[in-house]
Amino acid sequence: MNDAEQIVYLNGRYVALADARINVLDRGFIYGDGVYELVPVYGREPFRLPHHLARLQRSVEGIGLANPHTDAQWEAIIRALVARTPYADQAVYFQITRGVAKRDHAFPKGVAPTVFMMSNPLPTPTSEQVEHGVAVVTADDNRWLRCDLKTISLLGNVLMRQLAAERGAMETVMFRNGHLTEASASNVLIVKNGGIVVPPKDNQILPGITCDAAVDFAHEIGIPLEVRPVPKFEALAANEMWLSSSTKEVLAVTTIDGRPFAGGRPGPVFRKLWAAFQQRKPRATAPA
Ligand SMILES: Cc1ncc(COP(=O)(O)O)c(C=O)c1O
Repeated sequence: MNDAEQIVYLNGRYVALADARINVLDRGFIYGDGVYELVPVYGREPFRLPHHLARLQRSVEGIGLANPHTDAQWEAIIRALVARTPYADQAVYFQITRGVAKRDHAFPKGVAPTVFMMSNPLPTPTSEQVEHGVAVVTADDNRWLRCDLKTISLLGNVLMRQLAAERGAMETVMFRNGHLTEASASNVLIVKNGGIVVPPKDNQILPGITCDAAVDFAHEIGIPLEVRPVPKFEALAANEMWLSSSTKEVLAVTTIDGRPFAGGRPGPVFRKLWAAFQQRKPRATAPA
């Protein structure tokens, strides 16, 4: 689909991507002043939409922006865009910025937010990635201290992801003050003694919807969970390490900083959880 064919949503209108325009004074462009969400859609059904909309509400409140829509309105806009997009499985991306105003750091008064939404084919992990696992590199987490907000100011994450890309890895797993935080665009879970361990949902990590789904599914199949700070040495000596995100689902880490990790193969707990995830996620049964 080219930019003339792809329909996007911009401030109340559905327009061709090629025709979608925003003002250069938009605070999203000038300051990265906005928040976003990405909702995976399976078989034209948004996955865990209420969770995504609750996280969006936390994000807008966290940056002092009024949510321009109710959950019901968001759902209607998302479904209308999904219906205009010719794939059964989609990744719906939407962002809200603080709108267009003369450049001044302080919030402008009486300015309408800019709302943009687009939907693309959902990238799903390859069978190679699922079967053999993926490579990560490690780095100190140098991002700001509100990583719990899903803001469009992603330069810290961009630089971390680039570090991985330059080393042929999928992700950069980060540590702050000697403890595991998350990866540049994923949450990180470890397995120890047959159970999952995840860091607490504090200001240092994004509360991932996929991570929550994985933890719920793990609970359903009897895998125990511990939520606590994870020291770096413990993460790097774990039985297994996983990445989770809306577009990765759950993937096992099998290489860290160029060296084989956990025997270089996805572990048994990952295999069980991955199967449960596939069983429980909505299926792409709808025609494209
Ligand atoms: C920094 C960061 N952490 C975690 C995640 C995973 O969140 P979710 O599972 O909701 O996609 C993302 C997703 O893009 C992310 O950017």
